[in-house]
Amino acid sequence: MKILIINGPNLNLLGVREPTIYGNTGFDSYLVKLKEQYPNIEISYFQSNHEGVLVDKLHEVGFQPVGIILNAGAYTHTSVALADAISAITAPVIEVHISNVMRREQFRHHSYISPVCVGTIAGFGLDSYRLALEALINICKE
Ligand code: DQA
Repeated sequence: MKILIINGPNLNLLGVREPTIYGNTGFDSYLVKLKEQYPNIEISYFQSNHEGVLVDKLHEVGFQPVGIILNAGAYTHTSVALADAISAITAPVIEVHISNVMRREQFRHHSYISPVCVGTIAGFGLDSYRLALEALINICKE
């Protein structure tokens, strides 16, 4: 089973960026532990700060047998282009947020991508990614 985790803008700064909201762990070290927990799953990772690059990545992998975990960062709240890309592809996409966006500023309450994703997991810190992985495992078993 193949899973691709895609992180959007500013998520390259995890561990450094606003640690009271996003924690002290960098994504690379989290990913090492996640891969150890799921040795039978091929987990790959991509990050970009650029909307069009994220769209290109979704096009590139989205017609392959892969499950996608997407934290679109701030593009969640702004990007019709990402929503359209998710609609266009066949791979299942799960929306993830580290923070509970519904407990934060009003502008974070709206997601352009929620309606085109299989589901959303938010508010569990980095564990949100593992929970999304579990959800994809169950979807792919069906
Ligand atoms: C985020 C929440 C977004 O509102 C924010 O712009 C991010 C991170 C999260 O993981 O909690 O960059 O997606």
